[in-house]
Amino acid sequence: MNIQHLHLIYFSPTRTTRHILEEIAKGMGWEAATVTDITQPEIRSQKPPVFGNDLVLLGAPVYSGRLPKDAARYFSELTARGALAVPVVLYGNRAYEDALLELKNTAEACGFASLAAGAFIGEHSFSGKDYIIAPNRPDKEDLAKAFAFGQKIAGLLESIQSPMDIGPLTVPGQFPYKEAVARGPMDFIQVTEDCDGCGVCLPACPATAIDEANRYATRPERCMYCCACIKACPQGARIMKEGPLKGIAKMLSESFSARKEPETFFAG
Ligand SMILES: Cc1cc2nc3c(=O)[nH]c(=O)nc-3n(C[C@H](O)[C@H](O)[C@H](O)COP(=O)(O)O)c2cc1C
Repeated sequence: MNIQHLHLIYFSPTRTTRHILEEIAKGMGWEAATVTDITQPEIRSQKPPVFGNDLVLLGAPVYSGRLPKDAARYFSELTARGALAVPVVLYGNRAYEDALLELKNTAEACGFASLAAGAFIGEHSFSGKDYIIAPNRPDKEDLAKAFAFGQKIAGLLESIQSPMDIGPLTVPGQFPYKEAVARGPMDFIQVTEDCDGCGVCLPACPATAIDEANRYATRPERCMYCCACIKACPQGARIMKEGPLKGIAKMLSESFSARKEPETFFAG
């Protein structure tokens, strides 16, 4: 099947999802893909595109076994007329639970035919110098698997004439999905004296939660705990305070240190 465009749409505060989608696209052999990075709120507020004879790689991290709510809403507003999708989730070596199924179902409800899907591993958002979780993932092996996944998708495309030739795609997960975790506002980020006011954290935040007027303090009521600001800070001046979130990071680093491997799924 000849597709007209390859599109990448991702939500990726700490960029592991983006990295994997780019590697899958490389494996597909596409020189140029259209990219819609929905990490920033101003992009999410634009009208989502309509897809025709296209293939769209949809990517999001796993947040508590589900899709991040802002990403899920954007994906649910896409329109596909004969377009194919490859849903991909990135998780921090604990579990992806219902997130991949949620992304696949969301894509299909928009009219996409799902050709393949994947769950890959990225360094956990809560991973830091005190508690390290899935460090440096995706690593070379993960990227090689993402590239090979892209090659296999390209091969599959050659073997079909139209979306009608694609059988059902089965991925792990349960419906009804697990209940979304409702977290109250949590004040877990400390800005240390090393902050030199460079402002790199401002655009890194996908939730406009950083208050420029207040020495780059975080507004807990807006924060989605993605830790993108901590990872983006060139001075290492944003750190996780002692408290419940750091306790979760400790638990994750102790209980989920055994390496998990990427999984890929193909339509029958
Ligand atoms: C609020 C929140 C919840 C998360 N929940 C999970 C989870 O349930 N399972 C898991 O393995 N990783 C979980 N993670 C880790 C991310 O899925 C993982 O770090 C992912 O690679 C981040 O993608 P990104 O780099 O594209 O932002 C969570 C991260 C955050 C911020």
